[in-house]
Amino acid sequence: MKHLIEPSDLTPQEIGDILDLADKIVENPDAYAEKCRRKKLATLFYEPSTRTRLSFEAAMIELGGNVIGFAGADSSSAAKGESIMDTIRTVQSYADIVAIRHPKEGSAKVATLKAEIPIINAGDGGHQHPTQTLTDLLTIRSLKGRLTDMTIGLCGDLMFGRTVHSLIRATMRYKGIRFLLVSPPELRVPDYILEDLQRHNIPYQEVDRLEKSIGEMDVLYMTRVQKERFFNEEDYIRLRDSYILDLDKMALARPDMIVLHPLPRVNEIEVAVDDDPRACYFKQARLGKYVRMALILKLLEVEGC
Ligand code: CP
Repeated sequence: MKHLIEPSDLTPQEIGDILDLADKIVENPDAYAEKCRRKKLATLFYEPSTRTRLSFEAAMIELGGNVIGFAGADSSSAAKGESIMDTIRTVQSYADIVAIRHPKEGSAKVATLKAEIPIINAGDGGHQHPTQTLTDLLTIRSLKGRLTDMTIGLCGDLMFGRTVHSLIRATMRYKGIRFLLVSPPELRVPDYILEDLQRHNIPYQEVDRLEKSIGEMDVLYMTRVQKERFFNEEDYIRLRDSYILDLDKMALARPDMIVLHPLPRVNEIEVAVDDDPRACYFKQARLGKYVRMALILKLLEVEGC
């Protein structure tokens, strides 16, 4: 049974195969319209979502399958105290594959313990978000034509931003990757990720000003300060506007740099930047559906995919 809990559950070869399949689906979606007929995806979302839940659901529907699930802990028996493991043991009688989002780190891993169907981590607290990473990789490969030999800048809340942790873990496996980590000292990348980079001799630099480093980046990955992970509101208010990407900063960037953001955006990218052709975050959100279609097909081992 194959689950996807963090990007390292997939080899670079498997990731390449998923991205290749996503490209084929983009080119000819009709060819995949019946591939999951009579299959069901359960979306178990204990935390809010727009993109991840809806793109998973759209993905399954476009593959000819059906969707069941809930969009908040309050509307499930979690509100009565049911454990994740018991929920999964029940839901696997109704569905063929599960996408789960939960505010607690490690919850998706717990969901796999008694699972007899594939479990996909759709975000576990401030830990990992592997399907966002597949989306990010597909976007980078589509727009830059490669996943190697790049300087990737990550900016904002690098402490709680699970998409950052997953993206670093995935891209550090490709040749010639260098990271510029732009954050306030309070929101630095967690030590376990930095130790990974050091152990594998991956070049990285921690910087505090975006203006100083934006000119060196091939990809700028902006992130929201994760209000929901802060212990007190005072700290959030102090840090929330640490970095705001505006047209002045864009003027310092390379003409072929791309700006990504997992979304939702709050204040960290001015709306005026959206019209710059280097702003690719809505294209990125669109590709999320196709890469999730590819992932579902692979995990369900659908013939010919
Ligand atoms: N990128 C992302 O996970 O967005 P949602 O929280 O809207 O799913």
